[in-house]
Amino acid sequence: MAKILAIESSCDETAVAITDDGKLLANVVATQIAVHEKFGGVMPEIASRLHTENITVCLTQALEEAKVKLEDIDAFAVTRGPGLIGCLHVGLQAAKTLAMLYDKPLIPVHHLAGHIYANEYAGEFHYPMLCVVVSGGNTELVLMKGDLDFQIIGETKDDAVGECYDKVARVLGLPYPGGLPIDQHAKKGNHTYHLPVPDPGPSAGPYDFSYSGLKTSVINLVNSMKMKGEPVNVDDMARSFQDVAIGMIVEKSLRAASDFGVRQIVLAGGVSANSYLRDQMKERLSGTSIELIIPPLWCTTDNAAMIAKVAERLYAKKVFAPLSLGVDPNWKIDHWMDFEN
Ligand code: KG4
Repeated sequence: MAKILAIESSCDETAVAITDDGKLLANVVATQIAVHEKFGGVMPEIASRLHTENITVCLTQALEEAKVKLEDIDAFAVTRGPGLIGCLHVGLQAAKTLAMLYDKPLIPVHHLAGHIYANEYAGEFHYPMLCVVVSGGNTELVLMKGDLDFQIIGETKDDAVGECYDKVARVLGLPYPGGLPIDQHAKKGNHTYHLPVPDPGPSAGPYDFSYSGLKTSVINLVNSMKMKGEPVNVDDMARSFQDVAIGMIVEKSLRAASDFGVRQIVLAGGVSANSYLRDQMKERLSGTSIELIIPPLWCTTDNAAMIAKVAERLYAKKVFAPLSLGVDPNWKIDHWMDFEN
């Protein structure tokens, strides 16, 4: 094991973490949510600029918290993708510069692998394991038969579930990001609005998802009610939407878990903070032989501690990248070894 400094900058959080033989010494996160809130979504150009401003501050703070010097670090890890291209570049350039200056290995980490391995802060992994990866940019069911062995068995054919939450929140006049406000309103509401469960289409597999139809149904329903002067019950709409959006994830996850005979299910990504998803999974898995790992809330948002968790493994396997490494905004988790571009 070693001292690893990890950097995450794939979306709207600039983060730096330092681990020593697996022990988390520092975990600094600078979030930009307050800036993007007024636009109702992440503005990529602004996000990149803010990463540039924040990266040095986060680095300095992490080193101070960990009480280590840059020359003591054994490897520099960084999120190489997926994410926003300009944002990824800021983290990558920082990590490359440090790796070059201190002549230490550069470790390329997949962002979603980070979200999955964040669960190791909550429990030990047992394979085969199903990872329910639900975030603002991704909705995937990933089967793991062993360490770092990722197979995508289902994914969204259009929008990500988190993106759908954010768009629905917007039409309901709720703040960005919309996941938590919808979750909170849904708890007070009843399922009174009929919303169709979207069909991912004839070419889709049994574990694939579709969210654009659900998003459009809510937007059309709300707009037509507004035009007719009918009041929209936000609590009930949030509940009706959440039942369908999360219901789809629960059903497909449980079906995949049974079909593949998994020992464990782990939740990962921003939407894994959802209380209904957590409660439903706990309830449906209680009394079964499948163990559930739910990430602590701090792990559901982007951070670099999760990047360090993956980096520790890659360091042990000597998976290092050349300094010519580029970012990949569309990097697929089942191709995490392909980074020599
Ligand atoms: O993982 P993340 O930061 O996104 C990507 O890296 O792509 O997740 C952010 C997403 C947002 O869409 C946000 O609305 C959603 O996670 N989210 C939630 C909840 N908390 C955050 N969605 C549903 N329920 C929540 N409680």
